[in-house]
Amino acid sequence: MDGTYGSKRPDRQLAVVIGAGGMGAAVARRLSHGHRVLVADIDAKRAESLAGQLTEEGGDVESVACDVTRPDSVDALAGVVRERGGFRVLAHVAGLSPVAEDFGLILRVNLTGPALVARALLPLAGPGAAAVLVSSLAGHGFTPAPGVEALLREPHDPRMAERVAAETPEENRSGALAYQISKCGLLSLVRREARAWGERGARIVSLSPGLIATPMGAVEFEHSPTKRGLLTRTPLARQGTMLEIADAVEFLASERASFISGTDLLVDGGLAATLAEA
Ligand SMILES: NC(=O)c1ccc[n+]([C@@H]2O[C@H](COP(=O)([O-])OP(=O)(O)OC[C@H]3O[C@@H](n4cnc5c(N)ncnc54)[C@H](O)[C@@H]3O)[C@@H](O)[C@H]2O)c1
Repeated sequence: MDGTYGSKRPDRQLAVVIGAGGMGAAVARRLSHGHRVLVADIDAKRAESLAGQLTEEGGDVESVACDVTRPDSVDALAGVVRERGGFRVLAHVAGLSPVAEDFGLILRVNLTGPALVARALLPLAGPGAAAVLVSSLAGHGFTPAPGVEALLREPHDPRMAERVAAETPEENRSGALAYQISKCGLLSLVRREARAWGERGARIVSLSPGLIATPMGAVEFEHSPTKRGLLTRTPLARQGTMLEIADAVEFLASERASFISGTDLLVDGGLAATLAEA
């Protein structure tokens, strides 16, 4: 597709979507119905192909490569957002699943990444802006070890992941534990950042999906009997869909959620409630 295809919509405000994977694509598609969209992913080709597809569907969608774990890359993303005049919605969807197995990398992508992105974009938040950071059910009902909890309060620190690893006995350093720690850290990041975002008249929330039918989710089902067990305990007795996540992100980002900040929305078919009662 050449650069002249599609329509520019300067009348619309910007939504920045980090992550062009399964859920990120569903969220970007939904937000493209009412916003200009900038899609960012470490996989430049994936982001570009999604932007091309959504442009063909009538959206005003651009892409940019960004590795959320690298401050220089996140600053470059902020530079693009600044050039576009700031943003109204930030949806941070990118993340690594426990299957990635690299303890430090999971912590950096799932926690340092959104922390860096939220900090870099906050000064560019327009009136009524909202940030929605995708966490997980896995971050609920989990308490990190006290030494780890203290380190999670400094998620921007480039050595945070290394330090958490050092606090964790080697035999426990699994992808699953890194995932729980990272997503739990994200829930508390949102609670801590609500004041700074509020000072700009902006909101920050997290959204915790339960079992969602995505390509990432499918790989996890293959590898994890625990996950298959969780499906049988989900009160709605099915996986959620990416459309249901897009619905929830759209709501949280909208004016209808204008007094919701510093909190989390579980979109899990009731699973966390069942687990908490067990
Ligand atoms: N699928 C589920 O069942 C489920 C459940 C709970 C939470 N989640 C969360 O939902 C989010 C999205 O899941 P998905 O199914 O769309 O995953 P996905 O694997 O389809 O997409 C993730 C995207 O993140 C990108 N990414 C990875 N590292 C990056 C980096 N350093 N910088 C920028 N981008 C990077 C990948 O290139 C990929 O495009 C994740 O945060 C995940 O933890 C998923």
